[in-house]
Amino acid sequence: MRLTRLSPDTDSAVMWRLGTFVLALCALLDCGVGAATIRQDAAGCTARGNPVYSVVFKGEWTKSKFPKQYPRRRPPAQWSTLAGRVHNNAHFMWSQGQLATPGVRLFAEEGKTVWLMNEGKFIPDVESQFLAPRVGRGVGSTAANITVNNKYPLVSFMVRLVPSPDWFTGVSSLSLCEDGQWKDEVHVDLDPWDAGTDGGLTFSSPSFAEKRQHRISMITSKFPNHPASSFYYRRRPRLPRIGEAIFIKLTPDPTTPEPTTLPPTTTMATTTLPPTTTTVPPTTTTIPPTTTTIPPTTTTIP
Ligand SMILES: *[C@@H]1O[C@H](CO)[C@@H](O)[C@H](O)[C@H]1NC(C)=O
Repeated sequence: MRLTRLSPDTDSAVMWRLGTFVLALCALLDCGVGAATIRQDAAGCTARGNPVYSVVFKGEWTKSKFPKQYPRRRPPAQWSTLAGRVHNNAHFMWSQGQLATPGVRLFAEEGKTVWLMNEGKFIPDVESQFLAPRVGRGVGSTAANITVNNKYPLVSFMVRLVPSPDWFTGVSSLSLCEDGQWKDEVHVDLDPWDAGTDGGLTFSSPSFAEKRQHRISMITSKFPNHPASSFYYRRRPRLPRIGEAIFIKLTPDPTTPEPTTLPPTTTMATTTLPPTTTTVPPTTTTIPPTTTTIPPTTTTIP
Protein backbone atom coordinates (compact mmCIF):
# COMPACT_ATOMS: atom_id res chain seq x y z
CA MET A 1 0.00 0.00 0.00
CA ARG A 2 2.08 2.89 -1.23
CA LEU A 3 2.38 5.51 -3.90
CA THR A 4 3.67 3.88 -7.04
CA ARG A 5 5.79 6.37 -8.87
CA LEU A 6 7.20 4.59 -11.83
CA SER A 7 10.84 5.00 -12.51
CA PRO A 8 12.44 4.14 -15.85
CA ASP A 9 13.38 0.51 -15.85
CA THR A 10 16.57 -0.72 -17.40
CA ASP A 11 15.27 -1.76 -20.82
CA SER A 12 13.65 1.60 -21.38
CA ALA A 13 16.66 3.62 -20.29
CA VAL A 14 17.45 4.51 -23.89
CA MET A 15 13.86 5.56 -24.52
CA TRP A 16 14.02 7.60 -21.35
CA ARG A 17 17.10 9.46 -22.53
CA LEU A 18 15.39 10.02 -25.88
CA GLY A 19 12.39 11.45 -24.06
CA THR A 20 14.63 13.75 -22.06
CA PHE A 21 16.28 14.88 -25.28
CA VAL A 22 12.88 15.67 -26.84
CA LEU A 23 11.94 17.67 -23.77
CA ALA A 24 15.22 19.56 -23.87
CA LEU A 25 14.67 20.30 -27.56
CA CYS A 26 11.15 21.40 -26.74
CA ALA A 27 12.49 23.79 -24.11
CA LEU A 28 14.92 25.26 -26.67
CA LEU A 29 12.29 25.71 -29.36
CA ASP A 30 9.66 26.83 -26.83
CA CYS A 31 6.88 24.38 -27.56
CA GLY A 32 4.31 27.03 -26.70
CA VAL A 33 1.12 25.00 -26.60
CA GLY A 34 2.01 22.92 -23.55
CA ALA A 35 3.44 25.90 -21.69
CA ALA A 36 0.34 28.00 -22.34
CA THR A 37 -1.92 25.24 -21.10
CA ILE A 38 0.13 24.75 -17.96
CA ARG A 39 -0.13 28.47 -17.21
CA GLN A 40 -3.87 28.34 -17.74
CA ASP A 41 -4.03 25.30 -15.50
CA ALA A 42 -2.07 26.94 -12.74
CA ALA A 43 -4.47 29.88 -12.97
CA GLY A 44 -7.42 27.49 -12.90
CA CYS A 45 -6.42 25.81 -9.66
CA THR A 46 -5.24 28.06 -6.86
CA ALA A 47 -5.35 25.49 -4.07
CA ARG A 48 -2.09 25.29 -2.15
CA GLY A 49 0.04 22.34 -1.13
CA ASN A 50 0.56 18.81 -2.40
CA PRO A 51 -2.22 16.78 -0.85
CA VAL A 52 -2.12 13.00 -0.87
CA TYR A 53 -5.32 11.28 -1.94
CA SER A 54 -6.38 7.72 -1.55
CA VAL A 55 -7.85 6.46 -4.82
CA VAL A 56 -10.22 3.58 -4.16
CA PHE A 57 -11.86 1.47 -6.83
CA LYS A 58 -14.83 -0.65 -5.78
CA GLY A 59 -15.92 -3.27 -8.29
CA GLU A 60 -19.64 -4.08 -8.26
CA TRP A 61 -19.90 -6.46 -11.18
CA THR A 62 -22.37 -8.96 -9.74
CA LYS A 63 -24.59 -11.55 -11.35
CA SER A 64 -27.64 -9.99 -9.75
CA LYS A 65 -26.91 -6.56 -11.28
CA PHE A 66 -25.68 -7.89 -14.63
CA PRO A 67 -27.28 -11.32 -15.05
CA LYS A 68 -26.89 -11.59 -18.81
CA GLN A 69 -23.96 -13.83 -19.82
CA TYR A 70 -22.31 -13.19 -16.44
CA PRO A 71 -18.89 -14.87 -16.70
CA ARG A 72 -18.79 -17.69 -14.15
CA ARG A 73 -15.65 -19.60 -15.11
CA ARG A 74 -12.52 -19.56 -17.28
CA PRO A 75 -12.18 -16.86 -16.19
CA PRO A 76 -14.93 -15.76 -13.78
CA ALA A 77 -15.82 -12.04 -13.77
CA GLN A 78 -12.95 -10.01 -12.33
CA TRP A 79 -10.88 -6.85 -12.77
CA SER A 80 -7.39 -6.18 -14.05
CA THR A 81 -4.67 -4.18 -12.34
CA LEU A 82 -5.69 -0.53 -12.04
CA ALA A 83 -3.53 1.96 -13.95
CA GLY A 84 -3.77 5.72 -13.56
CA ARG A 85 -2.21 9.12 -14.12
CA VAL A 86 -2.01 12.44 -12.34
CA HIS A 87 -1.96 15.15 -15.01
CA ASN A 88 -3.01 18.62 -16.18
CA ASN A 89 -5.80 19.54 -18.56
CA ALA A 90 -3.53 19.50 -21.62
CA HIS A 91 -3.63 15.72 -21.35
CA PHE A 92 -6.23 12.98 -21.23
CA MET A 93 -5.50 9.34 -20.60
CA TRP A 94 -8.73 8.26 -22.26
CA SER A 95 -11.80 10.23 -23.16
CA GLN A 96 -15.24 9.75 -24.67
CA GLY A 97 -15.16 10.25 -28.44
CA GLN A 98 -11.37 9.97 -28.68
CA LEU A 99 -9.32 7.19 -30.20
CA ALA A 100 -7.51 4.91 -27.79
CA THR A 101 -3.73 5.30 -27.83
CA PRO A 102 -1.70 2.09 -28.42
CA GLY A 103 -1.05 1.90 -24.68
CA VAL A 104 -4.75 2.28 -23.83
CA ARG A 105 -5.60 -0.30 -26.48
CA LEU A 106 -3.19 -2.90 -25.12
CA PHE A 107 -4.42 -2.27 -21.61
CA ALA A 108 -8.10 -2.48 -22.55
CA GLU A 109 -7.61 -5.63 -24.63
CA GLU A 110 -5.06 -7.53 -22.55
CA GLY A 111 -4.61 -5.70 -19.27
CA LYS A 112 -0.95 -5.03 -20.03
CA THR A 113 0.30 -1.96 -18.22
CA VAL A 114 3.85 -1.69 -19.64
CA TRP A 115 2.94 0.18 -22.83
CA LEU A 116 0.56 2.47 -21.05
CA MET A 117 3.16 3.35 -18.43
CA ASN A 118 5.88 3.89 -21.03
CA GLU A 119 3.56 6.20 -22.95
CA GLY A 120 2.90 8.29 -19.86
CA LYS A 121 6.58 8.59 -18.95
CA PHE A 122 7.33 10.86 -21.90
CA ILE A 123 4.35 13.17 -21.59
CA PRO A 124 5.28 16.41 -19.79
CA ASP A 125 1.61 16.96 -18.95
CA VAL A 126 1.66 13.77 -16.87
CA GLU A 127 3.01 14.37 -13.38
CA SER A 128 2.98 10.78 -12.12
CA GLN A 129 1.50 7.38 -12.80
CA PHE A 130 0.17 4.79 -10.42
CA LEU A 131 -0.95 1.19 -10.23
CA ALA A 132 -3.18 -0.67 -7.80
CA PRO A 133 -3.48 -4.43 -7.37
CA ARG A 134 -6.09 -6.27 -9.41
CA VAL A 135 -9.38 -7.41 -7.91
CA GLY A 136 -9.73 -11.14 -8.58
CA ARG A 137 -13.53 -11.17 -8.40
CA GLY A 138 -16.40 -9.09 -9.76
CA VAL A 139 -16.86 -7.51 -6.34
CA GLY A 140 -14.01 -6.13 -4.32
CA SER A 141 -11.83 -3.09 -3.96
CA THR A 142 -8.30 -1.91 -4.54
CA ALA A 143 -6.50 1.35 -3.76
CA ALA A 144 -3.48 3.52 -4.40
CA ASN A 145 -2.24 6.80 -2.97
CA ILE A 146 -1.47 9.75 -5.23
CA THR A 147 -0.07 13.23 -4.74
CA VAL A 148 -1.54 16.17 -6.64
CA ASN A 149 -0.66 19.86 -6.88
CA ASN A 150 -2.19 22.93 -8.48
CA LYS A 151 -0.29 22.44 -11.75
CA TYR A 152 -1.42 18.80 -11.95
CA PRO A 153 -4.79 18.60 -10.21
CA LEU A 154 -6.42 15.99 -12.49
CA VAL A 155 -6.60 12.25 -12.10
CA SER A 156 -7.55 9.50 -14.52
CA PHE A 157 -7.54 5.73 -14.20
CA MET A 158 -8.63 2.59 -15.98
CA VAL A 159 -9.50 -0.95 -14.87
CA ARG A 160 -10.18 -3.60 -17.47
CA LEU A 161 -13.17 -5.96 -17.25
CA VAL A 162 -11.97 -9.57 -17.39
CA PRO A 163 -13.11 -11.31 -19.49
CA SER A 164 -14.05 -8.80 -22.20
CA PRO A 165 -12.97 -7.80 -25.72
CA ASP A 166 -11.65 -4.30 -24.84
CA TRP A 167 -13.93 -3.06 -22.09
CA PHE A 168 -12.90 -1.10 -19.08
CA THR A 169 -14.19 1.25 -16.46
CA GLY A 170 -12.58 4.23 -14.79
CA VAL A 171 -12.41 7.96 -14.41
CA SER A 172 -11.28 10.51 -17.00
CA SER A 173 -9.70 13.86 -16.04
CA LEU A 174 -11.40 14.32 -12.70
CA SER A 175 -10.23 17.51 -10.97
CA LEU A 176 -9.58 17.31 -7.25
CA CYS A 177 -9.39 21.10 -7.09
CA GLU A 178 -12.41 23.38 -6.74
CA ASP A 179 -12.70 27.08 -5.86
CA GLY A 180 -9.14 27.29 -4.63
CA GLN A 181 -9.62 24.31 -2.34
CA TRP A 182 -8.76 20.64 -2.47
CA LYS A 183 -11.88 18.50 -2.42
CA ASP A 184 -12.16 16.39 0.73
CA GLU A 185 -13.91 13.43 -0.83
CA VAL A 186 -15.28 12.60 -4.28
CA HIS A 187 -17.52 9.67 -5.23
CA VAL A 188 -18.03 8.70 -8.85
CA ASP A 189 -20.44 6.08 -10.20
CA LEU A 190 -18.66 4.02 -12.83
CA ASP A 191 -19.95 2.81 -16.19
CA PRO A 192 -18.44 0.27 -18.55
CA TRP A 193 -16.59 1.67 -21.58
CA ASP A 194 -15.55 0.28 -24.95
CA ALA A 195 -12.04 1.16 -26.15
CA GLY A 196 -13.17 0.76 -29.77
CA THR A 197 -10.31 -1.49 -30.82
CA ASP A 198 -11.88 -4.96 -30.67
CA GLY A 199 -15.20 -5.67 -32.36
CA GLY A 200 -16.36 -8.34 -29.89
CA LEU A 201 -19.89 -7.94 -28.53
CA THR A 202 -19.80 -10.35 -25.61
CA PHE A 203 -17.59 -10.88 -22.57
CA SER A 204 -16.02 -14.02 -23.99
CA SER A 205 -16.18 -13.37 -27.73
CA PRO A 206 -12.93 -14.29 -29.49
CA SER A 207 -10.68 -11.33 -30.09
CA PHE A 208 -10.93 -9.74 -33.51
CA ALA A 209 -9.49 -6.39 -34.43
CA GLU A 210 -11.86 -3.76 -35.73
CA LYS A 211 -11.36 -3.03 -39.43
CA ARG A 212 -11.31 0.62 -38.49
CA GLN A 213 -10.60 1.78 -34.96
CA HIS A 214 -13.69 3.23 -33.33
CA ARG A 215 -13.82 6.03 -30.82
CA ILE A 216 -14.01 5.32 -27.11
CA SER A 217 -17.67 5.01 -26.16
CA MET A 218 -19.76 4.32 -23.09
CA ILE A 219 -21.49 0.95 -23.02
CA THR A 220 -25.16 1.27 -22.09
CA SER A 221 -28.18 -1.02 -21.99
CA LYS A 222 -28.83 0.06 -25.62
CA PHE A 223 -25.33 0.62 -26.95
CA PRO A 224 -23.99 -1.31 -28.75
CA ASN A 225 -27.54 -1.51 -30.05
CA HIS A 226 -27.40 -5.24 -30.68
CA PRO A 227 -29.35 -7.88 -28.74
CA ALA A 228 -26.22 -10.08 -28.62
CA SER A 229 -24.26 -7.48 -26.66
CA SER A 230 -23.51 -8.64 -23.12
CA PHE A 231 -24.75 -5.36 -21.66
CA TYR A 232 -27.83 -5.04 -23.89
CA TYR A 233 -31.02 -5.15 -21.81
CA ARG A 234 -34.14 -4.42 -23.81
CA ARG A 235 -36.28 -3.45 -20.82
CA ARG A 236 -33.75 -1.41 -18.89
CA PRO A 237 -33.55 2.34 -19.51
CA ARG A 238 -30.06 2.33 -18.02
CA LEU A 239 -27.48 0.03 -16.50
CA PRO A 240 -26.78 0.10 -12.78
CA ARG A 241 -23.28 1.31 -11.95
CA ILE A 242 -20.61 -1.37 -12.33
CA GLY A 243 -18.39 0.14 -9.69
CA GLU A 244 -17.49 3.22 -7.73
CA ALA A 245 -14.41 5.42 -7.56
CA ILE A 246 -13.69 7.18 -4.28
CA PHE A 247 -11.05 9.87 -3.78
CA ILE A 248 -10.29 10.74 -0.17
CA LYS A 249 -7.92 13.51 0.84
CA LEU A 250 -5.51 12.10 3.40
CA THR A 251 -3.35 15.12 4.17
CA PRO A 252 -4.81 18.20 5.84
CA ASP A 253 -5.45 21.25 3.72
CA PRO A 254 -2.63 23.78 4.25
CA THR A 255 -5.08 26.69 3.93
CA THR A 256 -6.89 25.62 7.06
CA PRO A 257 -4.30 25.70 9.86
CA GLU A 258 -4.44 22.66 12.07
CA PRO A 259 -4.18 22.90 15.85
CA THR A 260 -0.52 22.60 16.84
CA THR A 261 0.37 19.00 17.26
CA LEU A 262 3.57 17.35 18.39
CA PRO A 263 6.18 16.74 15.67
CA PRO A 264 5.65 13.33 14.05
CA THR A 265 7.68 10.66 15.75
CA THR A 266 8.54 8.95 12.48
CA THR A 267 11.76 7.41 13.73
CA MET A 268 9.86 5.81 16.56
CA ALA A 269 7.18 4.37 14.30
CA THR A 270 9.54 2.84 11.75
CA THR A 271 12.16 1.51 14.15
CA THR A 272 11.71 -2.20 14.49
CA LEU A 273 12.54 -3.08 18.02
CA PRO A 274 14.75 -6.14 18.64
CA PRO A 275 12.93 -9.24 19.90
CA THR A 276 11.62 -8.33 23.28
CA THR A 277 13.46 -10.31 25.92
CA THR A 278 11.30 -8.99 28.63
CA THR A 279 13.35 -8.80 31.75
CA VAL A 280 10.85 -8.26 34.43
CA PRO A 281 12.57 -6.74 37.41
CA PRO A 282 11.96 -8.62 40.64
CA THR A 283 9.07 -7.08 42.39
CA THR A 284 10.68 -5.77 45.50
CA THR A 285 7.87 -3.90 47.01
CA THR A 286 9.52 -1.61 49.46
CA ILE A 287 6.97 -0.48 51.84
CA PRO A 288 8.19 2.67 53.50
CA PRO A 289 8.34 2.36 57.27
CA THR A 290 5.38 3.97 58.80
CA THR A 291 6.95 6.71 60.79
CA THR A 292 4.11 8.30 62.48
CA THR A 293 5.40 11.57 63.73
CA ILE A 294 3.28 12.70 66.50
CA PRO A 295 3.61 16.41 66.95
CA PRO A 296 4.84 17.35 70.39
CA THR A 297 2.00 18.46 72.48
CA THR A 298 3.02 21.85 73.62
CA THR A 299 0.41 22.82 75.98
CA THR A 300 0.64 26.50 76.41
CA ILE A 301 -0.66 27.42 79.67
CA PRO A 302 -2.06 30.87 79.67
C1 LIG B 1 -2.10 5.52 1.81
O1 LIG B 1 -1.52 6.26 2.85
C2 LIG B 1 -2.06 5.99 4.14
C3 LIG B 1 -1.46 6.96 5.12
O2 LIG B 1 -0.08 6.99 5.05
C4 LIG B 1 -1.78 4.53 4.49
O3 LIG B 1 -2.34 4.23 5.73
C5 LIG B 1 -2.39 3.64 3.43
O4 LIG B 1 -2.07 2.31 3.68
C6 LIG B 1 -1.91 4.04 2.04
N1 LIG B 1 -2.65 3.31 1.04
C7 LIG B 1 -2.09 2.77 -0.03
C8 LIG B 1 -3.00 2.08 -0.93
O5 LIG B 1 -0.90 2.82 -0.25
